[in-house]
Amino acid sequence: MEYSLTKATVVLNSTHILHQPIAIKGKRIAAVGKVEGIPIDLQNECIVYPALINIHDHLRGDYLPRVGPPEGTFYLNWSEWDKDLKTSRVFQERANISLMDSYLLGAYKNLFSGVCTVNDHFPHEFNEPFLDKLPIRVIREYALAHECSSFDLKWGDGIVTEHRRALKRGHPFITHLEEGFDEESQQGIEILLETGSLDEHAVLIHCIGFSDEDIRRVRKAGAHVVWCPASNMFMFNVTCKIRKILRAGVNVSIGTDSTHTGSINLLEELRYARSLYRTMYGEDLPARTLFEMVTQNPAKALRREDSIGTLEIGKWADILVVKQIEEDPFETLLKMNLEDIELLVLAGIPILGSDRCIALFQKKEKDYTSIALKGCKRTVIGDPMALLQRVREKVGYPKVLDYMPLQG
Ligand SMILES: [Fe+2]
Repeated sequence: MEYSLTKATVVLNSTHILHQPIAIKGKRIAAVGKVEGIPIDLQNECIVYPALINIHDHLRGDYLPRVGPPEGTFYLNWSEWDKDLKTSRVFQERANISLMDSYLLGAYKNLFSGVCTVNDHFPHEFNEPFLDKLPIRVIREYALAHECSSFDLKWGDGIVTEHRRALKRGHPFITHLEEGFDEESQQGIEILLETGSLDEHAVLIHCIGFSDEDIRRVRKAGAHVVWCPASNMFMFNVTCKIRKILRAGVNVSIGTDSTHTGSINLLEELRYARSLYRTMYGEDLPARTLFEMVTQNPAKALRREDSIGTLEIGKWADILVVKQIEEDPFETLLKMNLEDIELLVLAGIPILGSDRCIALFQKKEKDYTSIALKGCKRTVIGDPMALLQRVREKVGYPKVLDYMPLQG
């Protein structure tokens, strides 16, 4: 399919913003400044962004409500949460839903918030059966460890082997790190250094226990940090030294973690991050910086800069179109809600859209359904309403999932 988005503000990346058409042909961006194929007139009311990237999620865990420490207390490390989760009522309830449907819930959580690409932090053998059946892109190209401590969940083939594999294949090596305060949890960087695994392939999630020296070593190594502020504050009432990490020049991305601890979606996580930063430091974290943390920064950390994260001719046409709220496009992103999404495109294929873009949803080869999303009519790939009904049947009551506000 060939089409163009016209009469809109186009955010190519955090420093280049145009008011020109953008043309899509097949899976890729074909031209900027030219109209080709079907024109979609956005009537000077919309902003076109690169689709968002959620660098840290656990799709199977995108169920609600959250599971956390007893009121007024916080955890020492993630393992206490893991025990609480596995003995919780919500965990029992979740077990009624098939793994495939759990994965679909996680995928739609992301899709409805403008995300086209996700990293699902689970071993390949666990998520592989589901990835082809999801409405968004969940990356397969990664090596991993669950965490770096003697009590971690032993995912993958061990830090040394997984990291070597990442180097050989040009993939990221992704791990939770220093998610807690006991002595061992604070040794994450030492373990990575001892195993020769701290380099530009390393993508380090949480990093709550980092010392100033750790930050310096991460910067020097060219490793990447993933900030999950809502999850950290919910579990530990503290997060990483984000201002020092940013000032050191480390490449930082924002991830949601699962909804069992994090925000309900990436848009809420962005707002939470900004508000927490203001509380912690008494200053603003610019919307432009936050935009980078869910587009070009995670593309770099995932070693996908050549295909996603910005709008460029030849890259994947992963596109998010939002109704303009503020004059500044980055402030619009920080204010937008699910119903403000006019169009979401994954590698050229429209996967969510309003009637303004309905001409793109006529093709017969994809299965689309019509939904009411917070009272607004949308066309979406797949059948999330049937998914929600299946979940309700399995759990035996009309379950509400805040990231999927569908009526019907
Ligand atoms: Fe996580």
